[in-house]
Amino acid sequence: MAVRKIIRMGHPALRQPAREVAPADVGSAAMHRLVADMIDTLHDYGGIGLAAPQINEGIRLAIIEIPGGPTRYGELREQPLTVCINPEIEIVDADTEGHWEGCLSVPGLRGFVERPRGIRVAYTNLRGERESLSAEGFLATVFQHEFDHLDGKLYVDHIADPEKLVFEDEYVRYILPLEEPPAK
Ligand code: NI
Repeated sequence: MAVRKIIRMGHPALRQPAREVAPADVGSAAMHRLVADMIDTLHDYGGIGLAAPQINEGIRLAIIEIPGGPTRYGELREQPLTVCINPEIEIVDADTEGHWEGCLSVPGLRGFVERPRGIRVAYTNLRGERESLSAEGFLATVFQHEFDHLDGKLYVDHIADPEKLVFEDEYVRYILPLEEPPAK
């Protein structure tokens, strides 16, 4: 296991569509090593999701893990570590909801993005089984953000209002206090 380097916006590999993982490769030792590296990398950089292209591995693989409680994104509901191979998204609620997003490949910035608020996600797990789950709100945004990486897209592509692309420190200072409900 190892912490890998996360490539940043401007690296051409972040703009290339990733390729499908072949069924024979899903449970391979190499795939398990890669996922272990991604988990180490996610923990080391302190993120909530990571897609394989962000460590310059051009395959359709992403992991998401959200610790419950207060984070740099506000108060979040826990999502246990979820390893998604060859994921697909179905939009079940096309009404949009906006969230401030960040990305380990776009360090130091936050941007406000509106996306469909309800989705169903299907993916292959590390045992080769197809699984699915439903996600709403911020969690739906996180899955859409990570899976965008597999199509060579970044959250900045979706920012409608350029005034809503800000530095993280200024986000925490000026915007987050307005976003969060008063402490209970
Ligand atoms: Ni990202």
